[in-house]
This record gives sequence, structure tokens and C-alpha cells, in this order.
Amino acid sequence: MVNWEADNLDENRANWEADNSDDDFAQGSVVRDLSATAADDDTGLDRSLRPQYLKDYLGQGRVKENLAVLIEAARARGESLDHLLLSGPPGLGKTTLAGVVANELGVSIKVTSGPAIERAGDLAAILTNLERGDVLFIDEIHRLNRAVEEVLYPAMEDFMLDIVIGKGPAARSIRLDLAPFTLIGATTRTGLLTGPLRDRFGIAYRLDYYVAEELKQIVERSALLLGVSIDKEGALEIARRSRGTPRLANRLLKRVRDYAEVRAEGHISLAVAREALSFFEVDALGLDNMDNKILDLLTITFAGAPVGLSTLSSALGEDPDSMEEVYEPYLLQQGLIKRTPKGRVATPRAFEHRGLPYGDAEEAQTSIEY
Ligand SMILES: Nc1ncnc2c1ncn2[C@@H]1O[C@H](COP(=O)(O)OP(=O)(O)O)[C@@H](O)[C@H]1O
Ligand SMILES: [Mg+2]
Repeated sequence: MVNWEADNLDENRANWEADNSDDDFAQGSVVRDLSATAADDDTGLDRSLRPQYLKDYLGQGRVKENLAVLIEAARARGESLDHLLLSGPPGLGKTTLAGVVANELGVSIKVTSGPAIERAGDLAAILTNLERGDVLFIDEIHRLNRAVEEVLYPAMEDFMLDIVIGKGPAARSIRLDLAPFTLIGATTRTGLLTGPLRDRFGIAYRLDYYVAEELKQIVERSALLLGVSIDKEGALEIARRSRGTPRLANRLLKRVRDYAEVRAEGHISLAVAREALSFFEVDALGLDNMDNKILDLLTITFAGAPVGLSTLSSALGEDPDSMEEVYEPYLLQQGLIKRTPKGRVATPRAFEHRGLPYGDAEEAQTSIEY
């Protein structure tokens, strides 16, 4: 229920718009960095390289095929597309895909995020402003607060808004019809979504890490847009070291371009890509300093023994959430670390990657957790 009186609508609208003046508002905490200053110009970079239509959205074949059918069907029936939940690690293209879906449907998109919607009235203002068929994109939807989430249920289910007017005994409640809309929610962690919210999405996709060949195409497309001269081998080398993540591929491309301009007359060949990436301390698996610090802790400091998440994160000076959402997924996917009931363990591959012998570690019995 929304208490109408308590909230000043115009003010809410203004807040909402201010919150969203920046396309990429929600990513601050999860943007991986290679150097202290690298993330600053990322927002503009993300925006300029963001594909607008499905044909330019590379990779994620199954998701794309599926969506193309659903979008065509919705368009043909003149109905709004079912609510859509996108999950997956940062930088894999959730925000991009939401925009692509809106473009393919030929509707407008309103962009906000879980933490930006503080009060039920904020969401009510957003919802009543939607036009028929519009897409409402809520990034980090797992961070919506309960009161706000409850407004969302009838809105998603019946396109209805329950409103309380007045206070105390004089209060009455009315229902408002909303224009049919499509909610697209994005989350790095489906596990944190409440059951009732998750159940109200008709469609849910999990985006996977991209394979090198797909990332290579993304690098080539971005190079074309940025006017960077690059050959196939150079693009593939950047792709290989981008930890399966388009945002990182674009960021590395930009770093390598800078290097190439200063040291190699602007052209990115295999050799130049390699030199540049090692210059920026991105290793052959695409691991950066932080990843290698994690591996060093597990392999050297804790000598292969299981380490609890909280211990690991405090040893690194990171909070456990970003440990789990940002750093771990790729290390897990690469088979460098394992999650066990006793904690995180380095695998033989991690020892090998750090140039360490594996043998001794197997005898390390104690689990470390304080
Ligand atoms: N499938 C894709 N094809 C091409 N570029 C992509 C793709 N997915 C993501 N990107 C690029 O990566 C950047 C980050 O994607 P974004 O949608 O912001 O990720 P997320 O919202 O999942 O964190 C985008 O700006 C875009 O340039
Ligand atoms: Mg995003």
C-alpha cells in the first residue's frame, strides 16, 4: 500500500530523475578496476559502446534466440512483454540487454535501481508515469526494500496500484489502474531475491561468461566504433584476458589502445596486445592484482587449507559481498578455487598458475576460520 499523503509526488519525480541522470548509476560498487583511475571514464565508454539492437548484442545465443521469439510474439499481439529477470555477474550485459529489449519492442525505457527507490511513493510515482508497453528497468533489484517491493506485487501481477488517502479513521484506500508495462529486473544475485518477487517474473535468464571467440567479436566491434586499428590476433589476445566479461574487454581495449598509441604507432597486433597487457599487469588468464592476491593468500599464506569467506575478505580488506559477487565467480569458473563446507580452497590449477608446487598443500588439514 502506498500512503499518498506522506509523499510529495513532484519531489519524488525530481529525485528519481536526478538519480538516473547517469545511465550507469548502479555499478559503482562492482566495477572492477585495473588501476586506481581506470573506472572514471568507464561510464562514457559503456554508453558509447552499448549495442542498441539484438543483432549487435554478441554472444548469449540461447537468450537472444529466446527473446527474439517472445518479443516478436508480444509485438504481434500488441501486448506488453512478460516481466523479465536478468541475473549474472557484473559487466556481462544486463543493463545493455534491458535497453535492447526496449528498442526491439519499440517502447521507452525508464531506468532506476533498487537502492534508488527509497519509499513506496517513489515507486508509485514511477509506475504511474509509465505509458502502455513501456519497460521499467530496475537494476540491483535484490536491494529493493520490503515496503517498496510490496507495491510492486499488484503492479506486476494486475497492473494495479493500491493507494491509501488520508490518515487514521478518515483514511480510505483506492486502487489505480496502471498502463500495462514490462518490468526488467537485473541482479548479480538471484539468491537474494524474495520468493514472491522471483515468482512474478514470467521470464528469467542467467547470463553466462562469454567465450573468447565472442569477446573477440566484441573487441573488434568496439575497436571499429572507437576507430582503433587492431588485427584478429590482437583482438583475440585481449578477449582471452578479459575474464569472460564484455565490460572488461572494452576497458582492456582502451588501455591497450593508449599503450599502442604511445609505444607502437597506434596499431594493436598480438605482440603489442601482449606487451601492453603485461605492462598493465593483466596476466595470461586475465587475472589482475586482486585475483592474484586472493590466490596467494590461499596458496601461500594459508598453504592450501580451507579459508572462511570472512577471514579471506578481511585479509584482503574487502567486504564479503563484493568478494562473493565480484571476485570469486570468475576464479570459481576458471577452476582456480573451490567452495567447500569448510571454506575456500585453492585448486592444483591455482598453485600451477602461481608457479608453486601443489604437493605439500594436500597435507594442510586445519581449516582456518575465526
Ligand atoms: N552482448 C554484448 N555485446 C556487445 N557488447 C556488450 C555485450 N554485453 C555487454 N557489452 C558491453 O559491456 C558493457 C557492460 O555491459 P552492462 O550491460 O553495463 O553490464 P551489466 O549491466 O551486466 O553490469 C556495455 O557497455 C557494452 O559495451
Ligand atoms: Mg548494469
